[in-house]
Amino acid sequence: MGKKVLVIGQGGREHALVWKLAQSPRVEKIYAAPGNPGIAKLAECIAISAGDVEQLLQFARDNNIDLTVVGPEAPLMDGIVDRFQQAGLKIFGPTARAAELEGSKVFTKNLLKKYGIPTAEFEVFDEIELARNYARFFTDQGKKVVIKVDGLAAGKGVIVANDWEEASQAIDSMLKEKSFGSAGNKIIVEECLIGQEVSFFAISDGENIVSLVSAQDHKQVFDNDGGPNTGGMGAYINPPVFTAEVKDQVINQIIRPVIEAMRKEGRFYQGVLFAGLMLTDAGPKVLEFNARFGDPETQAIMPALKGDLYTLFETAVNGELKDYEVAINEGASICVVLASKGYPGAYDKGKVIRGLEDVSRDTVIFHAGTVEKDDQLLTNGGRVLAVVVQGANMAEAINKVYNEVKKIHFNGMHFRTDIGRKALKR
Ligand SMILES: Nc1ncnc2c1ncn2[C@@H]1O[C@H](COP(=O)(O)OP(=O)(O)O)[C@@H](O)[C@H]1O
Ligand SMILES: [Mg+2]
Repeated sequence: MGKKVLVIGQGGREHALVWKLAQSPRVEKIYAAPGNPGIAKLAECIAISAGDVEQLLQFARDNNIDLTVVGPEAPLMDGIVDRFQQAGLKIFGPTARAAELEGSKVFTKNLLKKYGIPTAEFEVFDEIELARNYARFFTDQGKKVVIKVDGLAAGKGVIVANDWEEASQAIDSMLKEKSFGSAGNKIIVEECLIGQEVSFFAISDGENIVSLVSAQDHKQVFDNDGGPNTGGMGAYINPPVFTAEVKDQVINQIIRPVIEAMRKEGRFYQGVLFAGLMLTDAGPKVLEFNARFGDPETQAIMPALKGDLYTLFETAVNGELKDYEVAINEGASICVVLASKGYPGAYDKGKVIRGLEDVSRDTVIFHAGTVEKDDQLLTNGGRVLAVVVQGANMAEAINKVYNEVKKIHFNGMHFRTDIGRKALKR
């Protein structure tokens, strides 16, 4: 019997997961909650929000869902995996206690310290004066210092402070003005690491790991990493800085040890582990972990992934990943995000999207912020679409992707023109 899958979420990441799951010969039917117009071409979208755990559980029961896949972090923190497991339903993702690896930076930093896993030197504070003193220890040496809130902050809870003034302001904003609410009850003050930043994705069943791929995203809105941070303006896989040697170090010094540490702490980690890493002169160090797939990294990863995603997830959920291997296309995969005018600030909506029918057959378009109205596709979010192409190498992929981007149009559309260029400089 073909399998029924429920994918939770509505962004480009979830579209990419649905797209790949739809290729599985084992999958008969995919539901997405709530999904989006792109996803609707491959799955049945149901009007339940990603945050409504009880309704999702009811839906999964009523429809005999074989496997549920969680896209965003919020339902994980809310314990969706715990609830499904208690109900005897299979679900891919970590429990709430395991997802603290993303949900609490203080938890994670303390865990890394306890188990000797490489990360920036740090201290945890809830008192302003003590935090300032420690920050000054770095700034007095003319070094930058990084100030982070403990909890989830939609990518806005980290300040890389250039000097004492900036550090002090960040500490005040977090601990005194409570700009981040309870997410900032505790803060981390840490050493600023220097190097190339990369992401690494692995799948764990709680004990064994399967490595997927490395990637590099582009957080800032403008070319050459200018302007404010966004949810991500593009990504590509296998950055050249992530050599086979680095990969070995990351797996043996970071990924395996942290999965083992979580097991020892009774926080069995099943799901995707997304490591944010800095490749320093002293080796790779952990910046943070996320407990779910990256957006837009996933959009670049899925078209490059070989094999059956359903079976990979199912094997992880069943705790049988030992000796499982995943293959990724050799060559390049690159994703460019098309954004609405104004994004990442207040942005336009309701602009007609044109040209999607003109893109090449082997180009993949993932929807993030779109809506269908009267048979027209309109923009409906800050990040609207992701354009993904594969190439024999980065130079070819970059050329190809920007050729495809040219075919697409909506009023006020903007995108970075330098996605992947860092990979060429090497
Ligand atoms: N110790 C550090 N040294 C240098 N840069 C850092 C450090 N910690 C964080 N950063 C920078 O800040 C960004 C956001 O920090 P991160 O820990 O990933 O938090 P989040 O993704 O939750 O906002 C990172 O992607 C990195 O560019
Ligand atoms: Mg991050």
